[in-house]
Amino acid sequence: MIVVSSFKELNLLPSGDDRDQDRSEDDDTESAHLDGGVEPMSKVITALSTSVDGYITGPDPSPEQALGRGGKPLFDWYFDGDVPSQVFEGFRLSAESARVFDQVAGRVGAVIASRRTYDHSNGFGGDGGPHPTAPLVVLSHRPPPPGATQRFAADIEEAVEIASRLAGDRDVGLQGGQTTAAAIAAGLLQEVIVHQVPILLGGGTPLFPQFPLAHELSQVEVVAAPGVTHLHYALTPARPRGDEERSQ
Ligand SMILES: NC(=O)c1ccc[n+]([C@@H]2O[C@H](COP(=O)([O-])OP(=O)(O)OC[C@H]3O[C@@H](n4cnc5c(N)ncnc54)[C@H](OP(=O)(O)O)[C@@H]3O)[C@@H](O)[C@H]2O)c1
Repeated sequence: MIVVSSFKELNLLPSGDDRDQDRSEDDDTESAHLDGGVEPMSKVITALSTSVDGYITGPDPSPEQALGRGGKPLFDWYFDGDVPSQVFEGFRLSAESARVFDQVAGRVGAVIASRRTYDHSNGFGGDGGPHPTAPLVVLSHRPPPPGATQRFAADIEEAVEIASRLAGDRDVGLQGGQTTAAAIAAGLLQEVIVHQVPILLGGGTPLFPQFPLAHELSQVEVVAAPGVTHLHYALTPARPRGDEERSQ
């Protein structure tokens, strides 16, 4: 997925007209669920480009430098191949990465990005999001900035509920480390895809800030590709830390 937090600067977002059309199609989907009583079937997943030492940005990320100091290579694999993505216009990946990336990106029907990701991406232009077709829900305790038309939610449960309705039978993709941790803590995250880039950043924004319970992961797929290793896991239910000590 879906991880470029500065599409606006990269000029990769679709035109406003396209986005409006996408949004109205998604709104129709939401109405169908609400009116017709069809249960959404989406999973909640996160897929982030991460350094080997576990950072999704270098130090001091900001709207001017969304991936922080030294963090730019985290996104190199989107553009260093010769296979165009079928989902994200302008992305050219290796054949191995294109298969993994498009499979995940094509499953996403709504995105939850939390406030720092949103702010560091200059609000995705006030009406867009990080995915070319999936509508955005922003997780924040603060009110939306003036003029923003994206949906906002004040806690992870509400954000997932809104995004799941928008996604229909597609998946909800999360963006941001704190958002991912909040979803894990709430028992709402089902899959993690770490696009592990061979770089040590030595500091920055951790992919997994603290959360209260330990989770074992089951391996879904591992794909070694040029410039990145795709590690795809499913979460198993949490268990309290200290189980091991008690059972010995
Ligand atoms: N490498 C990648 O693939 C990738 C992808 C996406 C983003 N990024 C980068 O990741 C950085 C942001 O990650 P991050 O972990 O620092 O922050 P984050 O998860 O994007 O956002 C943190 C903010 O989200 C809100 N928030 C978090 N949990 C919440 C909850 N449970 N309820 C309500 N609001 C909640 C809070 O906003 P309020 O202060 O408004 O309450 C909090 O300050 C950005 O620099 C972005 O560029 C990297």
